[in-house]
Amino acid sequence: MIDKVMQADPTEYAVIIDRISQDVPFYRAYLKNAAISGTAVLNNPFWWSADEKFFNNALAIKTGVPVPKTVLLPSKERPDDTTENSFRNLKYPMDWDGIFEHIGFPAYMKPFAGGGWKNVYKLNNADEFFKSHSETGQLIMMLQEEIVFNEYFRCYCLGGNEVRIMQYEPRNPHHLRYVHDGPPLSKKLLDTVKDYTIKLNAALGYDFNTVEFAVRDGIPYAIDFCNPAPDADINSVGQENFEWVVETAANMAIKRAQEHKPGQMNLTWGTFVKNAVAPTTKKPAAKKAPAKKAAPAIKTPVAKKAPAKAKKATPAKTTTAATKKPVKKATTTKRKSK
Ligand SMILES: Nc1ncnc2c1ncn2[C@@H]1O[C@H](COP(=O)(O)OP(=O)(O)O)[C@@H](O)[C@H]1O
Ligand SMILES: [Mg+2]
Repeated sequence: MIDKVMQADPTEYAVIIDRISQDVPFYRAYLKNAAISGTAVLNNPFWWSADEKFFNNALAIKTGVPVPKTVLLPSKERPDDTTENSFRNLKYPMDWDGIFEHIGFPAYMKPFAGGGWKNVYKLNNADEFFKSHSETGQLIMMLQEEIVFNEYFRCYCLGGNEVRIMQYEPRNPHHLRYVHDGPPLSKKLLDTVKDYTIKLNAALGYDFNTVEFAVRDGIPYAIDFCNPAPDADINSVGQENFEWVVETAANMAIKRAQEHKPGQMNLTWGTFVKNAVAPTTKKPAAKKAPAKKAAPAIKTPVAKKAPAKAKKATPAKTTTAATKKPVKKATTTKRKSK
């Protein structure tokens, strides 16, 4: 419960499971403010604000998980308060022939940040594409190769390693999409689906997500895996899946509360962010530090910004910042000086 939101005020919660901030930006801001004082917000509200389906597809490719060929399209209409001049970097017309040749038809067109099957189009040719695209206003759309599938899975992934694979038939009406007594599936396929689900969520850093796969020629292609508040309604997923989600989410929340460390951020970050911020390369810092002491003339913006405090506390580290990892070291210095 929230009555007032004061900047940098800690909440009374060790853990919050967020299932609503995608629709309520006020909550997203509240949750970031909660996170900075240590509340473990599931999912990480910063990452949730940062990624979208097109980027996630790129990350899937870098992670080794197959995805359908996909291109990003500029919105049909200009965003508010922009002029033609705002788009002077856009070649016009775009290379539509090249795009269509790459993706092929039939194709799917869908928003780069969307969900709930809203504005998802199946298109058979270029004419249908242009007609449908003209209806999409300011939405940023992606055009995607169709995966003609013989199996489709929707998989919950909680806490990075708890995976529930659900057989799913998206071509059925809504209440019949979850297949409860389908034909037996190969263990190898299910193992691959589980492996890809874990890989994607490790890269993204979501605590609570679903990944959908369409299987073509035995290869699972990740279709939809940006679902940080996934449907878990008992009426659509059914009793057993619902119970699994409730039980697993509750256990995850308890675990995170037990692991909660006061005075620090308790969020989950994916390997994409972690590797970018703290590259796991060599450890030159220790060797270099003594040499730096002898060279006190620090001529970097980092050093200039925090002169008195930083010098006293950690001169060697500040110097390292000049050459190695400015962002990380600057943060360390700040914390220490507090
Ligand atoms: N590339 C594709 N190939 C085949 N089917 C697709 C593809 N993209 C979407 N679909 C179908 O459209 C449905 C909705 O698309 P999806 O990407 O899951 O969007 P949303 O996030 O709105 O659920 C999927 O469940 C699937 O049945
Ligand atoms: Mg979907």
